[in-house]
Amino acid sequence: HGKPGTVQERTFIAVKPDGVQRGLVSEVISRFERRGYKLVGLKLLVPPTDLVKQHYADLSSKPFFNGLVDYMTNGKAPVVGMVWEGPDVIKQGRAMVGATNPLSANPGTIRGDFCLSVGRNIVHGSDSAESAQTEIGLWFGGKGEVVDWSFGNEEWV
Ligand code: TYD
Repeated sequence: HGKPGTVQERTFIAVKPDGVQRGLVSEVISRFERRGYKLVGLKLLVPPTDLVKQHYADLSSKPFFNGLVDYMTNGKAPVVGMVWEGPDVIKQGRAMVGATNPLSANPGTIRGDFCLSVGRNIVHGSDSAESAQTEIGLWFGGKGEVVDWSFGNEEWV
């Protein structure tokens, strides 16, 4: 891992069920697109309980764990899972998502602009290189689900 901007990283970003229900899928995608990041994986699903339990394994002893898993998996609305690629995208993505508790999230962040409740904070972003790799593997296990492609803009000014 080099200095920010020197490595093409990948991170896992998800719009959680409340974000999908509230019509914020396009808002989240738009922010990453306009920033200049590249979408290399995208799926809509009601995630299996096992997947969400693995995704949040480090929180399994927390009092909110069962409620968190139910909210993610009960099918009232699906989840949109994405892989975004680009310079420093893991850290930058977390900055764009904002603090876990939306009441601590700065205006201009997704959580700071669109929500109020920690239990309904509309979006997920991997918090480290290790979790990005693990989460991409969990949510995009199938062959060809993450796509290598180029903007083809080498000729732009
Ligand atoms: P965490 O991994 O700590 O935060 P983040 O999503 O910012 O990486 O927690 C995962 C999710 O668990 C969080 O987005 C919302 C939920 N959660 C609660 O419902 N209550 C809580 O007190 C905390 C800390 C998290």
